[in-house]
Amino acid sequence: MTQSVLSVLVIGGSSGIGMALAQHYAGAKAAVTVISRQSSPQLPDLNWLQDPLTSEPFSAEMVAKALTYQPDIIFICNGVLHDSQAMPEKTIRQLDIGVLAQRFATNVQVPALYLKLLFAYICKQPAVKLLALSAKVGSIGDNALGGWYSYRISKAALNMLIKNLSIEVGRLNKTAAIVGIHPGTTDTQLSAPFQQNLPAGQLQSAAATARRLASVAAGLSAGQSGQLLNWDGRVLPW
Ligand SMILES: NC(=O)c1ccc[n+]([C@@H]2O[C@H](COP(=O)([O-])OP(=O)(O)OC[C@H]3O[C@@H](n4cnc5c(N)ncnc54)[C@H](OP(=O)(O)O)[C@@H]3O)[C@@H](O)[C@H]2O)c1
Repeated sequence: MTQSVLSVLVIGGSSGIGMALAQHYAGAKAAVTVISRQSSPQLPDLNWLQDPLTSEPFSAEMVAKALTYQPDIIFICNGVLHDSQAMPEKTIRQLDIGVLAQRFATNVQVPALYLKLLFAYICKQPAVKLLALSAKVGSIGDNALGGWYSYRISKAALNMLIKNLSIEVGRLNKTAAIVGIHPGTTDTQLSAPFQQNLPAGQLQSAAATARRLASVAAGLSAGQSGQLLNWDGRVLPW
């Protein structure tokens, strides 16, 4: 009897959690495809598609190539919290609308573009699972601390994007599961400046986070579509 091989697509997979996911699934003998702005790291077992995100038709070509592997699970990992230009704002007095626009570009527009290009596929692929990496700080209901304006606002917008898409896809493919997921605080360059005062045990390695997200993905069902999930599978408020 032939057993079909799990196929996984990781978008934004060159670093941190995305790369750890790619390596986790490759280690589990899945067929793994990565779409990234970066050139291939020449790792065995990864189908690497470079998308510099310079034009929609080129991104469409890369997505079409990725879909020839018929992914069962798709992760969208793109996201920026800080860069050389700006750290997260402590107060609205520090808000720079240019930085806010950049966070929207990376945290909302990039996932939105890929979701648009994946739409036809996820509307017809049986039991397809799509997990967009969001953040608990993007939950409006969970926000008790304030601050981090650009990141919170853009992740909240991503959450609405996921919720909205889950409704539209749900009308056409009753077996699809589309969720946002908070990966938990993970040791990557994104969290590096904020790791000093974390409670013991909160910081996970990227490999451990990949295992946790893969476990949530494995158990994901269409009934959960439209939810924002924590790394342990718990439902978070949008
Ligand atoms: N680390 C944490 O503690 C934590 C906590 C909560 C949520 N998250 C979320 O988890 C996801 C992965 O984060 P990470 O910790 O793995 O961070 P990371 O190592 O910085 O990776 C972020 C990914 O985002 C993509 N990216 C970066 N700049 C971009 C740009 N200008 N345009 C388009 N894509 C860009 C990159 O994809 P390519 O270079 O491959 O294109 C990269 O692989 C993010 O969405 C983040 O918000 C992380």
